[in-house]
Parts: sequence; structure tokens; C-alpha cells
Amino acid sequence: MSADSPPYRLVQKLLIKKRKMPHSRLRCLHDKNGTNSHDVPSNFQLLFFAMCRMSSFPWDVSTCLHPICRQNPPSVKYRKLFLSELIKRHELYASEPLDELYDALGDVIGAKEETVCYKSYLLPSGEPVGLEENVAVISEGTTGLVTWEAALHLAEWALEHPDIFTGRTVLELGSGVGLTGIVVCRVCKPTKYVFSDCHQSVLERLRNNITRNGLTEQGSPGVSVLTEEVDWQNVKKDQLRRIGADTIIAADVVYDPDIIGCLVRLLAELLKCKGQQRHPEVYIASTIRNPETYNCFKNELEKAGLKHIVITHPVTQVFPYNRIVSIEMIKVHC
Ligand SMILES: C[S@@+](CC[C@H](N)C(=O)[O-])C[C@H]1O[C@@H](n2cnc3c(N)ncnc32)[C@H](O)[C@@H]1O
Repeated sequence: MSADSPPYRLVQKLLIKKRKMPHSRLRCLHDKNGTNSHDVPSNFQLLFFAMCRMSSFPWDVSTCLHPICRQNPPSVKYRKLFLSELIKRHELYASEPLDELYDALGDVIGAKEETVCYKSYLLPSGEPVGLEENVAVISEGTTGLVTWEAALHLAEWALEHPDIFTGRTVLELGSGVGLTGIVVCRVCKPTKYVFSDCHQSVLERLRNNITRNGLTEQGSPGVSVLTEEVDWQNVKKDQLRRIGADTIIAADVVYDPDIIGCLVRLLAELLKCKGQQRHPEVYIASTIRNPETYNCFKNELEKAGLKHIVITHPVTQVFPYNRIVSIEMIKVHC
């Protein structure tokens, strides 16, 4: 770093400020565990924990210093940009500098950029769901190492329709890092939840995130959780029969024209598979990036003799994410 580069000047400035300021103001807001006793997470904090873009900065500083951030830190790059901006705004409007902010910026300026980061989403109960994700949206040849908007949309929809999951065996296709399933398991009380994917790195990350959020195969809290390799291109009927799903869900699985055919064949198999009075229910949330690809999916459903209805009810916004993207939820049936 050269002596007049912006980060260098910022570090110098913050070191001078640090010497002048006793550790004071913020600490009184925090109890011994570092938690802020009268802190109800603000929208601003929710955006921060989920590494979202922000259009405005209030004065609240319990972000980088919050226990959620200490446990599941957003990427170094995100925290660096965030703290630099927050300090700039603070200097513009506040009379006293806040040493903790300078300490936190000092830490991230010295930290090495990593390929992995953590995002946290708060459930309506206030409990966090923490996920280890890759910083890059596509890495290791897969899109499955980050949470996509459709997964958050599907999770919000599930929160409003717990009856579709309660007491049932749920199979999720293309689970990725696991956001939707973890929310369903924590809130909607399924009896059994089977996460699935085909990519080895995704399955490994998925297993870590499931454990990180207190879910185990032994059935805690009240749900038996499994992670299985289910590749739509060569899944065996036996495996589907053994899983015996009542409800099948998937988020953002319609994006590659080359795999639409095998995905549709699998859905047809699942809808016929149970051989009991009631057919399983299938719900799919898709981000429509390319209408042609999405129409091709719907045409393939029709060719396979499957019908669908578009679920148009708006869902209550619980999680922060980019809502400009166009997302459609459908129920597929025979
Ligand atoms: C765009 S990501 C969506 C992940 C997650 N559902 C979400 O919305 O955050 C697509 C997921 O589908 C999985 N996938 C792609 N092709 C697959 C296949 N043939 N069999 C099983 N999973 C597949 C990928 O590994 C990836 O996890």
C-alpha cells in the first residue's frame, strides 16, 4: 500500500482517532456476551447480515460488532466497503468518532480475501439461519454454492403455508447451500426432510450448513433430516420410492435448457411414483431470466402430460433480497 493511497490514509486517520478516543460509547450498549440487550434487528442490520446492497445508512453500528456477524462474518470485501462508507457518513454528521468502527475497519483492512463468506437470515422468531456460501455466484463449475432469490421466495412462501409441510415427508431438488430447507425444517415441522443435489462440493457445503443450523439425521428439532445425492439425469426409481415424498419443492432449477428434459421426466416420475390415494404435491419457484427457457420448461411439462397452476398470491417479505428479479411459483400436478 503506498503512503498516499486511500486505504493507507484511512488507516493513519483511524489510528490517530483511536489514540484520542477512550473505548467508551458503544460498549455500554452491549452486555457481557457482546449482545445488545435492547436491540431488535433493524432493516439495516438485516440487509447487512445477508450481504445485501444498501441505499441508505442510519447511525446504527451494531453490524460488524454484532454477535451474528462475529459468528457468521460477511465477506472481507463487503465489510471493508460497508465500514469505509459508515465511517465516512459518521464523520460527516457526528461529533465524536467511534473507536469500535475504526478497530473493525483496521481488522478487515488487514484480512485476506477469502473465497467463502457467511450470510445470515433472521426467521420471524428472530433466530438466525447462518449459511456458509462462496463469494462468487458461479464457482467450481456450479451455481449451487450461493443462495438464489427464488430460494428466499420459496422459503417466505413456505412460512405462509406451513400446512403443506407439517407432518409430511418433503423432498427438495437442487437444494444448493440449503436456505429453503433449513427454514422449512426450523419452522414448518415436516416429519422428514430430504435435501438433495448432484454436485459433490454442493452436497458437502449443504451438509455443513445443515449441521451449522442445528439439524441432524437423529431428528432435531422433531424432524428427521437427510441429504442425498439425487441427479435428475440418472436417478433410480427405487431411490424415489424409498424417499416416498408427499411434498416436493425446488427453487431456481429451471435455467439450463439442456437439463429441462430430465428434470421434467423426474417430476413426472415423482408425481406417479407414490402409488397411494394421494399424489405428492410439487411446488417450483423459478427466477425468470430467460422467458424462452422458462416457456420451454412449461412446454415440456405439457408434453409429459403434467399440468401446472401459477401461484399468484403475494408473500409477506421476511428476508432481504433483490425483489426486482421476476420470480414465479407454480404447482405441478397430473
Ligand atoms: C441455481 S442453483 C439453485 C440452488 C438453490 N435451490 C437456491 O435456489 O439457492 C441450481 C441447483 O441445482 C443443482 N442441479 C443442477 N443440475 C442438477 C442435476 N442434474 N441434478 C441435481 N441437481 C442439479 C445445482 O447443483 C444447484 O445446486
